[in-house]
Amino acid sequence: MEVIIQPTEEAAVKLTARIMADQLRARPDMVFGLATGATMEAVYAELARMCREEALDFSNAKSFNLDEYIGLPAEDKNSYRYYMDHHLFNNINIKKSNTHLPNGMTDDIPGEGPRYEAAIKAAGGIDLQLLGIGQDGHIGFNEPLSSLSSRTRDKSLTPVTYRQNSIYFNPPESMPRRAFTMGVGTILDAKRIVMLVTGKRKADIVAKAIEGPITSMISATAIQMHPHVVVILDEAAAANLKEQEYYRWTFANEPCWDRYR
Ligand code: F6R
Repeated sequence: MEVIIQPTEEAAVKLTARIMADQLRARPDMVFGLATGATMEAVYAELARMCREEALDFSNAKSFNLDEYIGLPAEDKNSYRYYMDHHLFNNINIKKSNTHLPNGMTDDIPGEGPRYEAAIKAAGGIDLQLLGIGQDGHIGFNEPLSSLSSRTRDKSLTPVTYRQNSIYFNPPESMPRRAFTMGVGTILDAKRIVMLVTGKRKADIVAKAIEGPITSMISATAIQMHPHVVVILDEAAAANLKEQEYYRWTFANEPCWDRYR
């Protein structure tokens, strides 16, 4: 794992988008794993800008989102399909038919996970998985006690996640209590993982995720087992990391980061 601390949220967002863009330029038929949430909005705005102003070409790319609420149709403003269309897909030249989210309106809840897994496999697997982290340490919607080898499935959300996300719903009580999510095992199958974490309110949980013991109580700790992970933080989110000096040293000295400094 590599940990990169950037001076501001804006710098952390730009670095994340640049890494994604460079991977796409190197491999135009990239399969992206994508996340939703407040943290990613600025990343998607930056990718859209690059598509508009720098000819970043998504025409051969594919995407699979981590999760979707159960019971929300695509047109619902709080569905993750709506979020992705609004923040990214409508603003870049990706083919909509190449963008995938679990079907929150399916009649076959037990069948949706295996169907989604099969679609990921048929696309050749995920090349780059973008991750955020929830206040309870979830990745995707893998809430505490999710098996570290879990696959895509339906999952009940925790009260912490409910408090984190229900602010976007009107009324807040209309937020679904359940969602489909890629499993921790599905996420670990991605060839590369980029996690972006910003803001003071994530400082405690991200320190546990990076430097704490691996535990299913904090599903984000599972990324420690992945061979190719970079975690990008702003100063506020990095505040509780013990080994900051080492992380800064590595970023300053590793040749692979030369072009990003
Ligand atoms: C959503 C997802 C979640 C979010 C996390 C952080 O697709 O994967 O794990 O990344 O809940 O959300 P924000 O960025 O809103 O704090």
